[in-house]
Amino acid sequence: MKISSTELVMFGDLLFNHYNWPMTLLRWEVVLNLKMKKIQINKIYNVNCIDVMNSMKKNSVDLVITDPPFAINFKAKKANYNRISSRVLTGYNEIKPEDYYDFTFAWMSEVFRILKDTGSMYVFSGWNNLKDILQALDDVGFKTVNHIIWKYQFGVVTKRKFVTSHYHCLYVCKDDKKRKFFPFSRFKQDAKTNNGRSLHYKDKEDVWDIKREYWSGDEKTPTKLPSELIEKILHYSSEKKDLVLDPFLGSGQVAVVSKSLKRNFVGFEIVPDYFKFAKKRLDEDLYRIKK
Ligand SMILES: C[S@@+](CC[C@H](N)C(=O)[O-])C[C@H]1O[C@@H](n2cnc3c(N)ncnc32)[C@H](O)[C@@H]1O
Repeated sequence: MKISSTELVMFGDLLFNHYNWPMTLLRWEVVLNLKMKKIQINKIYNVNCIDVMNSMKKNSVDLVITDPPFAINFKAKKANYNRISSRVLTGYNEIKPEDYYDFTFAWMSEVFRILKDTGSMYVFSGWNNLKDILQALDDVGFKTVNHIIWKYQFGVVTKRKFVTSHYHCLYVCKDDKKRKFFPFSRFKQDAKTNNGRSLHYKDKEDVWDIKREYWSGDEKTPTKLPSELIEKILHYSSEKKDLVLDPFLGSGQVAVVSKSLKRNFVGFEIVPDYFKFAKKRLDEDLYRIKK
């Protein structure tokens, strides 16, 4: 019987339920099968990205946009940020702070191998583990192009310190001379803002003021990049039919937005419920799903 790697994971779950096999056995079975198979484009997989990226071809990916787990004790089900907890899917997979550098070095090394020389990567990070992200980028051999700040609205209110209302985004590449960049993909050189400033210049500043999306009443995962942010990156750093990878899919935003802009995509997510949510969005071409 020929089954796809996605189906194999689901098949694995069924076997586990039915025969009560140990989970580790099934996990290895899934990983081995994925390693023997080639990862296919325009598919996503319910796996640990570090286990499978080494089966992807060297120099095959045009753009990586990713928001890795943070290594803070994030509680996915906390009813904060105005969320009703029952609509937030649980199971967020975090990494211990002491393991964060090794974890980061491991996935970044694989990305470096599979990224094309013309390609680039955008990595999002809070400030808590930024030092490990910056160190690993250097150690793996990436060249930093820009350190972008994503400024969002409604940080968590604090009494004795300033409110965190930004994220870091490291824009890096393998070869700064070969890296693709399309400076006029969004605004022409003479486009103007309402008060007569250059729109093109404003859009290319390295502080991006972009609102988070609140999906009230809909199913959601605890952290999600706004589509506007992903669209901006896709326009500046990719073309139609390019292959876009997100090793840490979460709700699948990067794959969903890439698909909508006619890019090819591939991605991985370790938490089964998030994977199923992302797959449903992709398979049914849905942006939001009513609970
Ligand atoms: C910050 S979230 C990504 C959110 C995503 N950018 C979005 O817009 O929905 C990080 C995701 O990585 C997943 N994850 C953690 N470790 C992983 C691993 N080793 N392989 C694949 N996914 C992993 C987590 O379960 C979580 O969903």
